[in-house]
Amino acid sequence: MPTMHAAVVTAFGEPPRSGAVPVPEPRSGHEELVDVVAVGLHPRTRSGAAGAHYTSTGVLPMVPGVDAVGRRADGALVYFVADDDVIGTMAERAVVDRRRSVVLPDGIDPLRVAATMNPAMSSWVALRRRVPVRPGQSVLVLGATGSAGSMAVRIAKHLGAGRVVAAGRDRRRLDALAEVGADSLVQLGVPAADSALGAAAADVDIVLDYLWGAPTEQAIRAVLTARRDRSVALHWIQIGSVAGPDITLPSAVLRGADLRLLGNGQGAVSPAGYLAELPSLVAEIDAGGIVVEPVPVALGEIEQAWGRDEEPGQRIVVVP
Ligand SMILES: NC(=O)c1ccc[n+]([C@@H]2O[C@H](COP(=O)([O-])OP(=O)(O)OC[C@H]3O[C@@H](n4cnc5c(N)ncnc54)[C@H](OP(=O)(O)O)[C@@H]3O)[C@@H](O)[C@H]2O)c1
Repeated sequence: MPTMHAAVVTAFGEPPRSGAVPVPEPRSGHEELVDVVAVGLHPRTRSGAAGAHYTSTGVLPMVPGVDAVGRRADGALVYFVADDDVIGTMAERAVVDRRRSVVLPDGIDPLRVAATMNPAMSSWVALRRRVPVRPGQSVLVLGATGSAGSMAVRIAKHLGAGRVVAAGRDRRRLDALAEVGADSLVQLGVPAADSALGAAAADVDIVLDYLWGAPTEQAIRAVLTARRDRSVALHWIQIGSVAGPDITLPSAVLRGADLRLLGNGQGAVSPAGYLAELPSLVAEIDAGGIVVEPVPVALGEIEQAWGRDEEPGQRIVVVP
């Protein structure tokens, strides 16, 4: 059986190590094998490798990697989202399902695509598929200091939001968001954060929530307490859960306001829905409007790179 180099997780909670695994085989006419060119190291990738993602099967060894840029046998570059499988994309080769891939334009930087697509897709799809943002609407980005959150600020503006409120913990990262379109900045985790959030975001139409957990419980309370007309729809889109997997939601909150809770992710949006959004997002990345800067790392260095923190606006990209 032919083998290939890959990042291999043999124990949850430990970083992957460079190793050898069997080359995967296409299982249907929709699938083909590609050479992997670049793989982003996203939070979703880390949680999968830790056995902590909701799609995790608990099977080891596993190869992390949820998406990638690959080169097909005909030479075309494609961006693709991998199936939830124990053999992910951090390897020399990967199986692509054509229904979850898009051909990239000539001359595009594959590392940039690998770094940007995952963090950008969350808000792009949320604001186009889950709750299409209407021109002039107000958006609150909760957790705006991470890669996906800061992308969400830019993307909300780009898609026509009139006012964008950015809320996050890190002061330096938060301040930088004024340059990419945030109209109001609210620092979380400091005294009086709730009243500042209420004042800035009382009347928003859409919340893009990357935090969940205690910060979300506080934010729901702060926004609804300050809201002038609680019967105006407030769409709260759950996207990430860096601050906790659960919230406690008092029943009175749902009776006392037109709060519409929904999520954005695999499952909430069909594969066809995601696929339909990929070309327009690729075009924006190619035009330079939406960019996360890649920090290239060789596959052989994955163990050392795994725990490394990136600077704002950067993402580790593994180059097999
Ligand atoms: N559903 C989807 O389609 C989708 C797609 C992409 C990402 N996601 C999810 O979105 C989340 C963020 O992804 P990312 O790529 O932006 O991650 P990231 O770049 O690692 O950023 C995470 C940020 O979370 C902030 N944070 C962590 N704990 C916090 C807390 N208790 N209170 C406030 N802020 C806190 C940190 O901000 P500070 O620096 O301010 O501390 C950090 O910068 C992850 O859960 C990811 O899985 C979902």
